[in-house]
Amino acid sequence: MHQIRVRGGRPLRGIIPISGAKNAALPLMAACLLSCKPVNLSNVPDVADIASMTNLLREHGVRIERDGGDMTMNAAQVESTTAPYDLVRKMRASVLVLGPLVARFGKAQVSLPGGCAIGNRPIDLHLKGLADLGAELSIEDGYIEAKAPKGRLQCGRFTFPFVSVGATENLMMAASLAQGETVLINSAREPEISDLAKLLVAMGAEIEGAGSDTIYIQGKSELGGATHRVVADRIETGTYAMAVAIVGTEVILSNTDLLLINATAKTLRQAGVTLETVEGGVRVSRGDEPVLGVDMMTEPYPGFPTDLQAQFMSLMSVSRGKSMVTETIFDNRFMHVQELSRMGANITVHEASAIIRGVEKLKGAQVIATDLRASVSLVLAGLVAEGETIIDRIYHLDRGYQDLIGKLSACGADVSKIVSG
Ligand code: EPZ
Repeated sequence: MHQIRVRGGRPLRGIIPISGAKNAALPLMAACLLSCKPVNLSNVPDVADIASMTNLLREHGVRIERDGGDMTMNAAQVESTTAPYDLVRKMRASVLVLGPLVARFGKAQVSLPGGCAIGNRPIDLHLKGLADLGAELSIEDGYIEAKAPKGRLQCGRFTFPFVSVGATENLMMAASLAQGETVLINSAREPEISDLAKLLVAMGAEIEGAGSDTIYIQGKSELGGATHRVVADRIETGTYAMAVAIVGTEVILSNTDLLLINATAKTLRQAGVTLETVEGGVRVSRGDEPVLGVDMMTEPYPGFPTDLQAQFMSLMSVSRGKSMVTETIFDNRFMHVQELSRMGANITVHEASAIIRGVEKLKGAQVIATDLRASVSLVLAGLVAEGETIIDRIYHLDRGYQDLIGKLSACGADVSKIVSG
């Protein structure tokens, strides 16, 4: 089992290139199933979740070629419309193939994803929305069986009872090949939604309103090929901004955009961090003074993202003062608290909120990563902790952070992988 070792106390200085967003690239890849023509993506991150989606699409018969950040996908000859359990259980985003498959082939069998470390994550909205587009759905032996009567989905008008990123994406893709105009109300507004809409439009779909809460999709009988660049990863951007905030000095985050992390930037500024736009990226700096305690609540975009909550909690652990962090998106996303406490953080959790009383120093310890964002929050804590932090179960990190060790080391951090077994 590999581990990461972080020796704390070294300030960061340099340039960190931000990769394409994995949470944008995953639905963009699933969208290739909507067309028999090639879809070309650039700026695709090299992370394990992308490899999982590649394996799943290949299982369906999609031909995929990859050269660095460039990926070509050709779904001209889809042989199977079944997404098997073994592939789906590795990554919940696999459920994103459901909409495209049933829209183009009139049928799909997708395994139910099963449990998840960050809470109960049902997919009822994906299913209700597809049913609204006329899909007939049933659950058989752990699989969702979806059929489009007469082979084609119909238009619909679906109101999400609350915001879901994945369900908005699944329905946007499905509606692009449905008959007539679909309206999605109370849709997610994340930049990944706008990015998917851009690709679908380039493929010939007619979509208006993506990025707002009401999306109009005029379905087409077929879609073509397209070329598209994956949007920068706002969560990676925010993660490195917090790395600078926690340990101090100055880093340029290149190939990204401050506009993608507006809410995060606002909160970090209140804490005393400087963020400004520079050509091609964002400059983040923090001087000798520790950050101030600031309250924060996670919300759907444009609010503060749940995917940066764990990292923010590491930062607040060494703040001057107190802060309250409230998680409103997932019901079990405080798994990192126990590990941060082992490093000396003073955190009390009450239901969906955590009170963090800033301490002067964290101390290195052996800790366990529980999910992707929790893992990176421990790396951030390790950057500022006294002594050595050893993080176990680092495969979580590989799912979503391309070359984390390389990027931090290039800016002066003492971070390395311990390879064993
Ligand atoms: C996406 O997950 C991201 N994943 C998550 O990133 C992110 O945390 C989440 O959006 C929220 O921003 C990808 O984009 C691949 P949701 P998704 O549907 O789409 C509930 C990371 O670390 N819900 O917006 O699965 C759900 O349980 C990951 O990169 C239902 O109840 O999230 C949650 O409480 C983790 N029924 C809330 O809605 C449904 O049918 C929001 O989930 C769907 C969702």
